[in-house]
Amino acid sequence: MGTKQVGTAVITAAGFGTRFLPISKAVPKEMLPLVDKPVIQYAVEQAVEAGITRVVLVTSRGKGMMEDYFGPHPELERTLEERQSPKLAELQRIASLAEVVSVRQQYPQGLGHAVLTAKPAVGDEPFVVLLPDEILLGSPSPTRQLLDASARLGGSVIGVGRVAREDVSRYGIASGEPVDERTLRLGRVVEKPPVAEAPSDLAIFGPYVFNPAIFDALEHIEPGAGGELQLTDAIALLAQSEPVFAHRFEGHRHDAGTPFGLLTTAVELALERPDYAPQVRAWLTALTGRLAGDTPPAAR
Ligand code: G1P
Repeated sequence: MGTKQVGTAVITAAGFGTRFLPISKAVPKEMLPLVDKPVIQYAVEQAVEAGITRVVLVTSRGKGMMEDYFGPHPELERTLEERQSPKLAELQRIASLAEVVSVRQQYPQGLGHAVLTAKPAVGDEPFVVLLPDEILLGSPSPTRQLLDASARLGGSVIGVGRVAREDVSRYGIASGEPVDERTLRLGRVVEKPPVAEAPSDLAIFGPYVFNPAIFDALEHIEPGAGGELQLTDAIALLAQSEPVFAHRFEGHRHDAGTPFGLLTTAVELALERPDYAPQVRAWLTALTGRLAGDTPPAAR
C-alpha cells in the first residue's frame, strides 16, 4: 500500500482538433486559452501536482509550439526582468514544471496508436495518461487519487465519472463488479456505444494509470470505432489477462473538447480566479439581467 510514485505522464495532443476548425488549422486546440493559460497546461500541472517529473507529449505536424511553451525563453525573460514584471516568476515556473519531451505521431490513427507512439519514451514502467480536453480538478488532484487507488488495488486504474444517458455515445463506457463505493473491477468497456447498447453511464475521462502491459495490448488490437486504434479496446484486452479498475475520482470535470465547452470552462475557471472573479461576476449579473429583459413578458 502507501502512495504510488510514477515518473512519467503521457499527454496525447496529436489530433487535428476538427471540432475547432477553422482556428485549429493554425493553432493546436491544446493551445487555445482558458483565460490566460493554454488548455494543455492543466494536464501538465495536474501531473506535476501528483509528483510526476517527466511529461511525454504526443504531438503531430504543426504542434511544436507546445514544447516551446514549456521551455525557457531567455530573451523574453530578460525583458520582463528589466521591466520588473510580475509575469517573470510565472513564466519561469512554467518552464521548470517538468521535463517535457515530445514524440510525434506521424499519421492520425487514433488515441490507442498515439499512446503506443510514446512506448520508447516511457520504457518498461507504470505511467499515467492524461487527455488534455478533460479539465479535471480536485484536491488531491484526480491523478493523485488514481495513483493512490492503483497502489491500494494493485493494477491499472482508469478515471471515470457519470454522464447523462444521452451522452454515453461520446465516450468510452465502463462497467464491472463494485469493489468499493467509487471503484469497479472492470468487466466490460466499450468505445462510444450507441445509447441502447451502453453497459452503464460511467464514462472514461482519465487520468489512466497503466502497467506497461498496456503496450502489448495496444500492439494486438484491431482498428475499432471510427476505424482507429482505440485505447478503450486495448483496456478491454488488458482486462482479460489482469485486473483493471475504474475509479470515480472526487472533484470537478470540465469538457474543453468543443468550442462551447471551452467557452463555459473559461467562464467557470475565471470565476475561481481572484484576479478575474469580481469582473466576471459583475458581467454575468448584468448579462443575465439583459437576457431576462429580452424575454417577452408573456413567456416569463
Ligand atoms: C477519447 C477516448 C474516450 C474517452 C474520451 C474522453 O475520445 O477515446 O474513451 O471517453 O476521450 O474525453 P475522444 O473525445 O478523443 O473522441
